[in-house]
Amino acid sequence: MNKYLVIGNPIAHSLSPVLHNYWFKKHSFLDSIYEKKEVEKKDLKKIVEQIKNDEIKGVNVTVPFKREIFDFIDSAPHEVQFTKSVNTLVKENNKVVGYNTDQEGFKISLEENDWNFKNKKVFIIGAGGVTPSILSSFIRLGGAEKIYLSNRTRSKAEELKKIWDKALGIYQMKKDTIEILDWEEKSELCDLIINTTSVGLKKDEKLNFDFSDYNNKKEALFYDLIYNPKETNFLKDARKRGNKTMNGKMMFLWQAHLAFKMWTGVSPIIDEEVIKLLD
Ligand SMILES: NC(=O)c1ccc[n+]([C@@H]2O[C@H](COP(=O)([O-])OP(=O)(O)OC[C@H]3O[C@@H](n4cnc5c(N)ncnc54)[C@H](OP(=O)(O)O)[C@@H]3O)[C@@H](O)[C@H]2O)c1
Repeated sequence: MNKYLVIGNPIAHSLSPVLHNYWFKKHSFLDSIYEKKEVEKKDLKKIVEQIKNDEIKGVNVTVPFKREIFDFIDSAPHEVQFTKSVNTLVKENNKVVGYNTDQEGFKISLEENDWNFKNKKVFIIGAGGVTPSILSSFIRLGGAEKIYLSNRTRSKAEELKKIWDKALGIYQMKKDTIEILDWEEKSELCDLIINTTSVGLKKDEKLNFDFSDYNNKKEALFYDLIYNPKETNFLKDARKRGNKTMNGKMMFLWQAHLAFKMWTGVSPIIDEEVIKLLD
């Protein structure tokens, strides 16, 4: 049996097993199974060894270990060495390689809605584990004109800016592209406003930014990485203002799609049935 895992803590909420096991069945990988496993930091080294010994075929890594697992892998592509955020482990040439499919998953989720990254002004709220992948999408894969970044703990946003400022030249971007704002401070009107915080996971939670100016920019897209609940207050308010909205479901699907392909060589189907699995 080929065993796959998603590891994290907590992990009970993860929908990755439902998705990957659906694809294994659909694509006739009858000897493959995907499970969730709650782990502690001390278990990470062993998980990597188990991949090396072929006890486990592939692993997804989620909160809070995407950074920690980096210290145990054998190698990683350039962009992951930069963000040090790993969500997919694959054995290649006897080495355990750490990839991050969140970046590409995020990018595809926008592109399939005809949203082009070039020359856009974006406002990123949050500076947690997933935010480097979102920043990377806008810089490495995109080429945004301006990126505003705000986090409750300002120092974390500043840390991210420090890292990414060094990369801007490589991607022919202006050195003042990234600007830090105070928490709940207004940015100029942007094309995309994205919530990368976990505020909204609980139904009553709400970000207290004033977005009322977006009444005059209906075409602005409000994107919440959260997909459960389907519509956070951040998205509900945007919809009521008449702005465009999107939740994190398609990003989640695409990051899983890319991981599945790395492990099996097969591009798994994304259809209405699989999209419904996540509702
Ligand atoms: N759709 C997808 O595929 C996908 C992929 C990855 C993550 N996500 C979602 O993205 C969200 C963040 O994930 P993560 O891994 O970055 O989590 P994380 O590392 O725990 O970071 C949490 C972020 O939320 C902020 N935050 C938490 N509580 C807050 C509060 N009460 N007020 C203001 N800010 C608060 C934190 O600010 P401080 O720094 O000040 O604590 C930090 O910026 C989660 O909801 C996760 O489900 C979705």
